[in-house]
Amino acid sequence: MSSESTAVATLRAMRWWDIEQVAVLERELFAHDPWSVEQFWGELARVPESRWFAVHEDSLGVDGYVGLYTVAPEADVQTIAVAPRSQGRGLGQLLLDALVAEARRRDCAQLFLEVRVDNAPAIALYERNGFTREGRRTDYYGAGLDALVMRRRLRDDPGVEQS
Ligand SMILES: CC(C)(COP(=O)(O)OP(=O)(O)OC[C@H]1O[C@@H](n2cnc3c(N)ncnc32)[C@H](O)[C@@H]1OP(=O)(O)O)[C@@H](O)C(=O)NCCC(=O)NCCS
Repeated sequence: MSSESTAVATLRAMRWWDIEQVAVLERELFAHDPWSVEQFWGELARVPESRWFAVHEDSLGVDGYVGLYTVAPEADVQTIAVAPRSQGRGLGQLLLDALVAEARRRDCAQLFLEVRVDNAPAIALYERNGFTREGRRTDYYGAGLDALVMRRRLRDDPGVEQS
């Protein structure tokens, strides 16, 4: 079984009752610019038309979540996050595999994302998965907080670094 199908099998759709837990993680993981509860409600209202959101749970509750925005042939990573208690064990990779699989299922040709230029763990994850640096958005996350724009082609290019 491929890693992508394994990932899909172990995640489930994010539902409105997950938002409270997700918002707590959001404030912890994105202290500078967390999405509000209302933003998550707004995103889920657009599922499945232009959005796809999934969560992963451990015995304590939601410990990872991921969101995708698609307007084929393009897709954007809306969010990807792993609770500190579960980081470094492959869950981020699992979430990204599922997101890529969903973007492909929706017939998207390329996947974009923005990431803070100082977010080394996330940039390492993306580069390991075939994302390339496309540009930089000045002050995207606030004064002095630039974003790196990254892109991965989804057609005719698996894009994943083989280890
Ligand atoms: C980025 C994030 C999702 C990674 O999740 P994770 O579950 O820890 O990642 P994984 O265990 O699946 O690691 C996969 C790869 O990511 C990279 N990575 C993860 N943590 C890393 C770290 N602390 N330093 C460097 N690279 C790291 C590595 O390439 C790693 O592969 P390896 O373990 O073979 O070296 C997680 O750190 C997170 O939620 N961070 C806070 C939220 C955030 O910044 N999200 C991204 C917004 S753009």
